[in-house]
Amino acid sequence: MPETITASFAGIDPLSAVTHPDPYPYYRELAATRPFFREPRLGLWVAAGPREVAAVLAHPDCRVRPPAQPVPPALAGTAAGDLFGRLVRMNDGAAHAPLKALLMPMLAAVDPDVAVQHAAAMAQVLDAGETSHAAMPAASVNRWLFALPAVSVAAVLGLPMASDRGTAVEVAQQVAAFAAAQSPLADTDTVRAGAEAARWLGTWVASSLANSEATDGPLPALQRAAQAAGIEAQAVAANIIGLLVQACEATAGLAGNTLLLLGRNPSAGGMPLQGVVARVAQDDPPVQNTRRFLAADTELCRHVVNAGDTVLVLLAAASTSGLADDARAWTFGHGRHACPGDRLAQALAAATVSALCARGADPAALARAFRYRPSLNARIPHFL
Ligand code: HEM
Repeated sequence: MPETITASFAGIDPLSAVTHPDPYPYYRELAATRPFFREPRLGLWVAAGPREVAAVLAHPDCRVRPPAQPVPPALAGTAAGDLFGRLVRMNDGAAHAPLKALLMPMLAAVDPDVAVQHAAAMAQVLDAGETSHAAMPAASVNRWLFALPAVSVAAVLGLPMASDRGTAVEVAQQVAAFAAAQSPLADTDTVRAGAEAARWLGTWVASSLANSEATDGPLPALQRAAQAAGIEAQAVAANIIGLLVQACEATAGLAGNTLLLLGRNPSAGGMPLQGVVARVAQDDPPVQNTRRFLAADTELCRHVVNAGDTVLVLLAAASTSGLADDARAWTFGHGRHACPGDRLAQALAAATVSALCARGADPAALARAFRYRPSLNARIPHFL
């Protein structure tokens, strides 16, 4: 009943929900009363119920990019666009399958405890340039949320990060710049900065890979397997950068939303941090939606849909609806594009929160003054 939705949730829609102070009653209402519907104002189909979300993610005609537009138009023809086009993350093409088959087990094999150790070591590297305060200022918290997960993934993979703060800060900044350029909200300056960042990261990763035999991470084995399978070195390098970018914004959001939960519920401070992070992944998730693009006319959730249509898949609605049989953190997706970094991300988010609290970040103070970063899919607090 659309009227009911409009009356009780005026001013919120499936896109503005992402950065709304409390979108969850609205999501629950959608999941219960309109699990799959067309939103004419946004020009999108919307999947909100857990069964419908799973059906869309499993449908063979639902693709991660519009078939005629493998690279977002704003990035096309730039270094950032070239890099984007090589990512297994944003591709259903058969050409990407062999590399994906190597990357997925590599990530699955990462031991979360080892990742946490790398994060603790990288936190000390980042410390070197920070003046110590009794309470960590919000601006430093924001910087660390974006930097620590990304540089920790780099360290886990075996890229040369150790002990050099300059490199760590530079890598973190370039990864964040490239990630920001992928948002549909990115302005021309952000897109230009993203293209420069893509070039910088391409050079840095290529030269690091050229010397990677000296590292103890999984990269040398990946390179050997890729070479044996006839996969271009450039595709390997692009996807390594892709992993850093994946780790950046979403893990920043998971760690930031965990700080908010700790700040609002002091009793949660007594729970194991991993458990708190897992709860946040489900109840206040950093990735709220993803999109699928119809490659053919077909039927989806008992509706006729057409080639060229777009479905907004409300992962956060499925997660918080209370309607799923299992309690799943839908924020990591589901099915053939499900996130292979889910355990790593949760370990790194917990490590980031604990590093921040150990350096004087005060969740209660942070939760009193923040806004969400403008985004159409990620819920990431920016502390003020
Ligand atoms: C809190 C942090 C993270 C969240 C919420 C998250 C969420 C997601 C989601 C929702 C997808 C599926 C997108 C879709 O189906 O449209 C995805 C895919 C992916 N994620 Fe993550 N992710 C996180 C962290 C990471 C990390 C740390 C890595 C690796 C270092 C990673 C690597 C990937 C890759 C490679 C894919 C593509 C899988 C494929 O297309 O087959 N993610 N992630």
